[in-house]
Amino acid sequence: MPDQYEIRRFKPAAKDDPGYPEAVAWMRAVAFGFHDARRSDERVDRGIEMQRVDGREMTGVYQTGAVPEHSLGAEIPVATFGTMDKTLNIGFGRLLDTRLVTAVTVRTSHRRRGLLRRMMAEDLAQARTEGLAMAALTASEASIYGRFGFGVATSEQSIKVDTGARFVLNHTPTGRVEVADPKVLLELAPAVFDRLHRRTPGSVDRHEFYRQFASGSVSRDDGEDPKVKVALHYGPDGGVDGYVSYKFGGWSSTPHTMEIVDLVAATHAAYLELWQYLGAIDLVERVTWEEAPVDDPLPWALTDPRCVDASEARDMLWLRILDVRKALEARHYPRDGRLVLKVSDTLGLTGGTFALDVSGGAAVVSDADGADVDLELDVAVLSSIYLGGVHPVTLAASGRIREAAPGAAFTAAGMFAVERPAHCLTHF
Ligand SMILES: CC(C)(COP(=O)(O)OP(=O)(O)OC[C@H]1O[C@@H](n2cnc3c(N)ncnc32)[C@H](O)[C@@H]1OP(=O)(O)O)[C@@H](O)C(=O)NCCC(=O)NCCS
Repeated sequence: MPDQYEIRRFKPAAKDDPGYPEAVAWMRAVAFGFHDARRSDERVDRGIEMQRVDGREMTGVYQTGAVPEHSLGAEIPVATFGTMDKTLNIGFGRLLDTRLVTAVTVRTSHRRRGLLRRMMAEDLAQARTEGLAMAALTASEASIYGRFGFGVATSEQSIKVDTGARFVLNHTPTGRVEVADPKVLLELAPAVFDRLHRRTPGSVDRHEFYRQFASGSVSRDDGEDPKVKVALHYGPDGGVDGYVSYKFGGWSSTPHTMEIVDLVAATHAAYLELWQYLGAIDLVERVTWEEAPVDDPLPWALTDPRCVDASEARDMLWLRILDVRKALEARHYPRDGRLVLKVSDTLGLTGGTFALDVSGGAAVVSDADGADVDLELDVAVLSSIYLGGVHPVTLAASGRIREAAPGAAFTAAGMFAVERPAHCLTHF
């Protein structure tokens, strides 16, 4: 990184602390990087408060020399990088502490000078030193992060569901759905999400923003969103085990549409019954959702699966193994076996040849320099197959995995499989 820059890492200060303006400047730089409208001071304050609840760290790159007159001052970072640590469900109910990377921006007038590379390389190395075995992010562009060892591990799709007369869902309710004041989600949403999180491979634990957002207490750019409505699902035991937060798209758009803001169901029945509710809303012929699972039970539950019009699948969660041994030993495997993996890592954090020996579902990983290799792959590719969400045979066919021992990719598919399709409902 040229020396006209310095990099600073800090935790956001409380409103009355002397460090507060630094956090405000950082937040404004992030909003600028994502082309957001300028937020009110109150919304920035709320944003910083939420970051503090999450225990986030802010990294900024600052100009050290004089800045030209009339341009943004040197106190506004030209590049930003945010981090927080949360758990990732890695299958069979196991949760792995994971470094989440977010708020990555580089000001246009300072791009392609290595600022992202510097922030990323330093943070990943630090996360590993702190003992973390995994990093994760969600990407605005798919071409940026592979070079840093991140691979796509889960996908999502947008759906438009025709809730007119042909919407018939074959399911006999076991619980009930009731409308609630949206603000109840401030209290209920974290507990309901926690249940989903513990049963869903690929799930990332949520940050503070979500309960505020789902309850209409904040919108992405502004304060309260008075359009948000909420329905709760009560399970057979009377407890809340699912919710949907949604809003009306307006009378001028046809067909009249309800947009899902957030849908969290901790049981299969809750998921289907919330959809039964959505399908029954009067004066509306369509329900849309931007974060639907690719492997969605909904079309299979409908008499006419073509009620669901799904977009192309999009990459959602990107994973980056920071420590191969730790990450592989953290997993439970549904199938025993042995694989020798030759893993390359251009950042030099965790490359090498590893023997993965699984017995009774538990793994022991050892150095295997000189042993016959079964699969040769980049750490980004190992990260993609880690959650069972991407098929190793497909990656071998694409040339991303070199299958030195015939059939080893299929063996890997069996060993890395998880109990239910991986899906991540947390954008960060
Ligand atoms: C994407 C972004 C952060 C890159 O920052 P940068 O400081 O210009 O990146 P660097 O100079 O460190 O480049 C690192 C490498 O990534 C490559 N790269 C950077 N941005 C890229 C992009 N959008 N597409 C493809 N490659 C990209 C560079 O060519 C360079 O490659 P090399 O190291 O192999 O030569 C910056 O362009 C940006 O702020 N974009 C808008 C916000 C955004 O998209 N953020 C990502 C949110 S997930």
